Amino acid sequence: MKQAEKLEQIKQAINNFYAQPSVSDSLIEAILYSVQAGGKRIRPLILLELVEAFGQELQQAHFQVAAALELVHTGSLIHDDLPAMDDDDYRRGRLTNHKKFGEAMAILAGDSLFLDPFGLIAMADLPSQVKVALISELSLAAGSFGMVAGQVLDMQGEGQVISLEDLKTIHANKTGKLLTYPFVAAGLIVQSEQFVQEKLRRIGELLGLAFQVRDDILDVTASFEELGKTPQKDLATAKSTYPAFLGIDGAKNFFNQTLDEALEILKDLEEKTEFSGEEIQKIVESLRLNG
Ligand code: IPE
Ligand code: IPE
Ligand code: MG
Ligand code: MG
Ligand code: MG
Repeated sequence: MKQAEKLEQIKQAINNFYAQPSVSDSLIEAILYSVQAGGKRIRPLILLELVEAFGQELQQAHFQVAAALELVHTGSLIHDDLPAMDDDDYRRGRLTNHKKFGEAMAILAGDSLFLDPFGLIAMADLPSQVKVALISELSLAAGSFGMVAGQVLDMQGEGQVISLEDLKTIHANKTGKLLTYPFVAAGLIVQSEQFVQEKLRRIGELLGLAFQVRDDILDVTASFEELGKTPQKDLATAKSTYPAFLGIDGAKNFFNQTLDEALEILKDLEEKTEFSGEEIQKIVESLRLNG
């Protein structure tokens, strides 16, 4: 299936979920404002590409799981932008949720985006044991053992001198875990062997770490138009980042090496199992930074 079609189906899965009879139209409006603002959708796309890479035809259930992941991610962005957190005015090229709807609504929209995905996965037409595993892994990736905990470490790391190992832990949790999820989820959906699931998780961890390093680099080097969010924020708020630690060139080297390592495992997987990693490789390569 073409990427544009996948994006359309992700959008449909989200819209269908929120087309249920509403209790508060204002809440749904605030949610859809951020969710349908035009994010890159890299997490759900990776999940769908992987399911196809294992030879399965995409079904509605797969789009629902992919959509669920995008909802959690969008909730994390809404909360990340709040005045008490990174205090940002723009996201995905438009005003942040709290700038548009007020802080209370943004907090509540984020709350919904953390809770709704579990119901959405539960409703999907997949074997129950697969869904329980998908829900369990999403909880681990997003909550106190994943993204939220990483955000706490990120906040506590502001203005502090920390080790590179600590920085890696921040990035692995605040961003790495939600980027690892599509790899883990695909392994669960296609019910792959244990050694395959382990390799998938490792690729996800490497890609997830690299993705936040990339975001840190772009914060320094890219423009508002390219990012859809305010650049040069990390230095202003004394965030602990890879460029702050290694310099821009050092961070770029680390980024490229980490992507290379992920691609090595992908290749290994292609050799050892029925799997065609070409499309995933394309997504990974598309993240490379020029210069
Ligand atoms: C931004 O994520 C926040 C990070 C975890 C680095 P994305 O770069 O995937 O943002 P969208 O979804 O495309 O807006
Ligand atoms: C994002 O890190 C991590 C999240 C869990 C949302 P950043 O704070 O660097 O993300 P941006 O730069 O605001 O997108
Ligand atoms: Mg942040
Ligand atoms: Mg931020
Ligand atoms: Mg950033």
